[in-house]
Amino acid sequence: MKITSFLPIFLLASSVLACPMDDEIHGDIIERDAEIVARSAEPDFDLLEVRDEEDEFDGSEEGELNARSLEGEGELMARATCNNGAGSGVCANKSKSCSGGKYYAGFCPGSSAIQCCVKGTKLPSIPIGGCKKYVYTNGYKIMKQFPTLISNVGCKGSRAYKSDHAVGKALDFILKKIAPNPNATKMAEYIMRNYSSLKVKYIIWNGKIWNRERKETPKPWSQWRKYTPPKALGTNCNARHCNHIHVSFF
Ligand SMILES: *[C@@H]1O[C@H](CO)[C@@H](O)[C@H](O)[C@H]1NC(C)=O
Ligand SMILES: *[C@@H]1O[C@H](CO)[C@@H](O)[C@H](O)[C@H]1NC(C)=O
Ligand SMILES: *[C@@H]1O[C@H](CO)[C@@H](O)[C@H](O)[C@H]1NC(C)=O
Ligand SMILES: [Zn+2]
Repeated sequence: MKITSFLPIFLLASSVLACPMDDEIHGDIIERDAEIVARSAEPDFDLLEVRDEEDEFDGSEEGELNARSLEGEGELMARATCNNGAGSGVCANKSKSCSGGKYYAGFCPGSSAIQCCVKGTKLPSIPIGGCKKYVYTNGYKIMKQFPTLISNVGCKGSRAYKSDHAVGKALDFILKKIAPNPNATKMAEYIMRNYSSLKVKYIIWNGKIWNRERKETPKPWSQWRKYTPPKALGTNCNARHCNHIHVSFF
């Protein structure tokens, strides 16, 4: 979206009024969360992302190992290393055990059966289909700092409204515990403080929004602007974002 076209609105609007732009972007969250949960059960593999990953290996010894293993040398494939953002691991067939850890899709070349086994973590999986790789990688980086708070995560989802979810550039971190949830507030503030390295555009949590597109600078969640859900959605917990943290990325 073009910041310049909204600038006059920003200047005129009182800081407590929710911007219609935000309402428009988030007008569809209620219906989509159910869809996101359903999708996360059956992640889809994005072949374009696989090509990106393969390119990174080009020219290296590992690249050659991978190229050969793609032709069926399964044993060599197991040596390829990977990193989901929260930790490093090895690429292996997800039908094999990843003892003490978990498989994460989207970080290994080749078949969607070959995934990144990261030990020492059981972070919820992010559905990668249509989700930008830097977005889901940043999602794991964020969850690594708060490994116990999230039940599941959504990314790509089609909506009737213009939405960063539609282009795979937004995450919904669905919380195990709804607001009030001081740990979730800490997580939202951590995401805000790291906005630059994580490419964060805006964050909505528990009735408040912080928006880097408006050049807002880091401040405690209690000082974020009020977020008013669109009228059509009512004022339930999901619409107010009291059960999940929404993060949009540039
Ligand atoms: C992964 O393992 C399954 C079950 O053993 C096997 O059928 C499948 O061909 C393997 N896939 C790859 C890409 O090695
Ligand atoms: C939330 O934070 C408190 C205090 O830091 C901690 O004791 C508690 O275990 C946290 N809860 C979860 C679910 O992580
Ligand atoms: C977030 O910022 C802190 C310092 O404020 C840093 O230690 C941490 O590595 C950053 N995390 C990410 C994911 O950028
Ligand atoms: Zn969302």
